[in-house]
This record gives sequence, C-alpha cells and structure tokens, in this order.
Amino acid sequence: VDESVDLKKEIRRLCEEKDAVVLAHYYTMGEVQEVADFIGDSLALARKAAKTDAKIIVMCGVHFMAETCKLLSPEKKVLCPDLTAGCSLADSCKAEDLKAFKEQHPGYKVVSYVNTTAAVKALTDVVVTSGNAKKVVDSLPKDEKLIFGPDYNLGNYINSVTGRDMLLWNGGCHVHEKFSVEAIVKLKAEHPEAVVMAHLECKAPVLAVADVKGSTATMLDYAKEHKETKEYIIATEAGILHELQRCCPDVTFYPVPPEVSEGGVGCSCNECEYMKKNTLLKIYNTLRYELPEVTVDESIAKDAVKPIERMLELS
Ligand code: 13P
Ligand code: SF4
Repeated sequence: VDESVDLKKEIRRLCEEKDAVVLAHYYTMGEVQEVADFIGDSLALARKAAKTDAKIIVMCGVHFMAETCKLLSPEKKVLCPDLTAGCSLADSCKAEDLKAFKEQHPGYKVVSYVNTTAAVKALTDVVVTSGNAKKVVDSLPKDEKLIFGPDYNLGNYINSVTGRDMLLWNGGCHVHEKFSVEAIVKLKAEHPEAVVMAHLECKAPVLAVADVKGSTATMLDYAKEHKETKEYIIATEAGILHELQRCCPDVTFYPVPPEVSEGGVGCSCNECEYMKKNTLLKIYNTLRYELPEVTVDESIAKDAVKPIERMLELS
C-alpha cells in the first residue's frame, strides 16, 4: 500500500464496511491494541468471540486463539493476520502424543490449557485459561483422575492451590520459562516498594516470590483496584505494559528481563515474537482481501468445541 495510507483509519473503515470486529490480545503491539474493537486475555477473547454479532472476526493474537474463535462462532468468517503466528506452548503438545498418553492412562480425564491446537482440544474433557483454571479444576469431582497439559508450570501451580494431584504434561512457554528469581530480586532491590506480578506460566520459584499471580487480566484488575500502589515489577510478556500504562498513567511498571546472564545483565527479549507478527499492514490486508481465513476440520471441530463450551459454563 501507498505509504500515505492511514492504516488505522482504513482498518476502522473496512470494519464498518464489512461488519467486522478486530479482537486483540494484550501481548500484541500497542498500535494493534489501539486499533482493535476489543482487547483482552484468552478468556475474555473467547467469551467475546462466542457472542459477537459481527460477520467477520479478525483475531490478532496467535493461531490457537483464531481456532478457538472459529470453534465458538462457526458461522462467522474468522481471519488471522498471520497464519505463522504460532505458540511454543501449543507446539509442546502434539495431538498424537496426547492420544498415546491417554491410552497409557485409562480412566483419566484431560484438562487442557487453552494454548493448544483444536486437535488437542478434541481429545480434551475441559479447557481452562490461566484466568479460570483454579475455578474449573475445583469444580471437577474430587475423585476424578486428571491429566493436565501442556503447561507444566500452570498445572503445578493449580495442583498446589487445589490440593489435586493431576498428572502434568511437560510443556512450557519459551517467554515465561525464562523469567528468573534473580532478575526479580535485582529489580526489587532497586525498587523495594514495587509489587511483583507474575503470570502463572512462570516457574514455581518465580511464582513463589510474586505478590500477585494470575492471567494478564488478573494483573490489570489488580493495578486498577490498587490505586495506592505506584510501582510494579511485571513478569510476563512486555506487551501487557501498554494497557497497564494506559489504565494507570501515573504508575511505573518495570518489566522483568527474562534471563540474567553470567555478568548479571538481563537481555530485553521478554517478548513473544508470534504475537508481534500482527502488524497494522497485515490487519489492513486481511480485512481488505478477507484472507487468510482460519477453518477447523469438521471432524475435529465437533469434539473440540465441547470442552471449550464446558469451560465457559463452569467459569
Ligand atoms: P492470558 O490468558 O493470561 O492472556 O495468557 C495468554 C498467553 O498466551 C500467555 O502466554
Ligand atoms: Fe504462546 Fe508463550 Fe506466546 Fe503466550 S507468550 S502465545 S504461551 S509463546
């Protein structure tokens, strides 16, 4: 497109013309969040996808989020600005491996984090997000034997707060696994008043030193409700800072650098490269050409939608 085109204006115009909504996750770039009709965590995005009246949904997040939209709104056209926006966590659990694991553990029910492919969801009894995992697992019969996947850290945390003994899949997110206690302690020494917030995908030692643990929406709600707190240390993907800062302009947020190298210097790669694949230009082209479209094979969709609907009922 011509460089003089105002992409944000054109995106809004195309949304109006085509009866489309743009949904964006908090980890996308600030300019993407600004052009979206709705921003949220995985749970809020799934809820929104289930009840929007628009004809077209443009999901600015990662591929599994677009699949979830399609499963919940099969009659709508679901577009995804970049089909290669994957997720290292979803990649850590292949459907054929989960199938084999289930066969080795007869009698177990499967609880899957929403960060999974539709094929994995089709092998699942109930889906959870980090925003509702405790509530959903708590609502399941106490004597039910459970497999939890693919995020080991989230499953381990949910075991600890529910007293369950779920079998854990050994998957993880390449962004959240890199946060270390050392990096948090270093920031805390510099900013002793700061409240530490960590995403449930972080490792157990990181969660142990966090004051607030939860989903991206949990962090936002906490910051909005605690106006007296003026400093936060944030252990999650740095995209969340855009909305945190917008909601709390007089508060300082320190993103945790993901690793402390031997020299004690953190690197600044606490970003999900998949989420950042959503650019204004791609959103514009997606709306203009109504491509690429995300579809889910009918044979998978009929089983994959059930555990998501069950999650929405239970949470
Ligand atoms: P939330 O549900 O907290 O938004 O998390 C999504 C995600 O991909 C975390 O890495
Ligand atoms: Fe997946 Fe991690 Fe990116 Fe979230 S931050 S979408 S879990 S790779």
